[in-house]
Amino acid sequence: MSTVVPALNGLLADYQVHYQRMRAYHWNVKGPRFFELHAKFEELYTAAALKVDALAERILALGGEPLATLRAQLEAASLKEDPQTHVGAEALVKATIRDFEALNGSLRKTARAASQAGDDATFNLLEPMADEQEKTMWMLKAFLG
Ligand SMILES: [Fe+2]
Repeated sequence: MSTVVPALNGLLADYQVHYQRMRAYHWNVKGPRFFELHAKFEELYTAAALKVDALAERILALGGEPLATLRAQLEAASLKEDPQTHVGAEALVKATIRDFEALNGSLRKTARAASQAGDDATFNLLEPMADEQEKTMWMLKAFLG
């Protein structure tokens, strides 16, 4: 089994935590930018769900086993759950940026490890995810002004 599988499972776990955070923010965001942020958080949790699926299927293609329970995913995640979902809209956007910074660090690191192991398909899966999220981070920072 490929040595990058544990790192891919770590990413899968982190995206599950991130997914649930985006759902909670979608539900609980308040204020004058509600409609904008409610829609943006929906876009982000939908993107996270697609990434979880892509990561799980890459793990399977490599002969590994994707973490399939919330308990196992929480244990493997480096992102922490956030019960503070009723804070201001700006704090939710800042927390979202922090998630993407952490996720991009793990994506780039795992992509490099995959490349060094000759696993181009994993590299090609992860790098566009990180590239797309860099753009999202820029937009979220622009939103903050
Ligand atoms: Fe909804």
